[in-house]
Amino acid sequence: MSILDNRPELRAEIEKVAEVAGYLWQKGWAERNGGNITVNVTRFVDDTMMAMPAISEPRPIGKTLPDLKGCWFYCKGTGKRMRDLAREPMANGSIIRITPDCAHYEIVADSPVSPTSELPSHLAVHGYLLAKGSPYRASLHTHPIELVALTHSPKWMEKDAATRMLWSMIPETKAFCPRGLGIVPYMLPSSVELADATIKAIDEDYDVVMWEKHGVFAVDTDIMDAFDQVDVLNKAAQIYISAKNMGFEPEGMTDAQMHELSTVFGLPK
Ligand code: 13P
Ligand code: ZN
Repeated sequence: MSILDNRPELRAEIEKVAEVAGYLWQKGWAERNGGNITVNVTRFVDDTMMAMPAISEPRPIGKTLPDLKGCWFYCKGTGKRMRDLAREPMANGSIIRITPDCAHYEIVADSPVSPTSELPSHLAVHGYLLAKGSPYRASLHTHPIELVALTHSPKWMEKDAATRMLWSMIPETKAFCPRGLGIVPYMLPSSVELADATIKAIDEDYDVVMWEKHGVFAVDTDIMDAFDQVDVLNKAAQIYISAKNMGFEPEGMTDAQMHELSTVFGLPK
């Protein structure tokens, strides 16, 4: 028995997570247990699910998040591998609900798999999105090789320096990641400080933020769209690096070409 049985919409959402987990492994972005995914699944919760008993004790989130009152999430399990999650999402992740004090969560299904160590960042961001009235329901943390490599140079850690370079590599980058790449300086993985800095960067109106020398954190309506934004940005980083490997600095599209693109496609300036 799985909580997904007879809940086709919830099942479809979790199957999307599994599909993306497979892509992350294929891309080489998900070594060992690298990366994590959470999805706000509250809209799929019915009365029977609501009445289900918890299968764990309430555990602290590390923050009090009033905007998450009554919310439910699918979370990758801590220490679990994306390549395993791709085959068995409910054995490598679990569904949790936020307790009424908004400071704890409890696991409801299918097995007591402890959620990702980056839960403070994921849940804080979901709370922020709900408070803003955003339609975004999915968040993705992953370790895309070329984007992480860029953060080892202070040049690319300056605000919007990487965004401008990545947008200029190929028109699709700005078209499909129109808010660019926010920057969060190095902080301890899984810390509440990292969660706070992530929200601050997302609040500057980025959908994807770079965690220096670690990975990216992306949000979007669903997990496939969050993955796509990271994929187009990393593709641009690969083009940049390919040109450098051929022995020259890539020219990049001109400011006028990028301006034209934004005007014609109605992209945010
Ligand atoms: P988890 O296995 O706890 O999800 O951690 C992976 C990771 O990438 C931490 O930043
Ligand atoms: Zn990580």
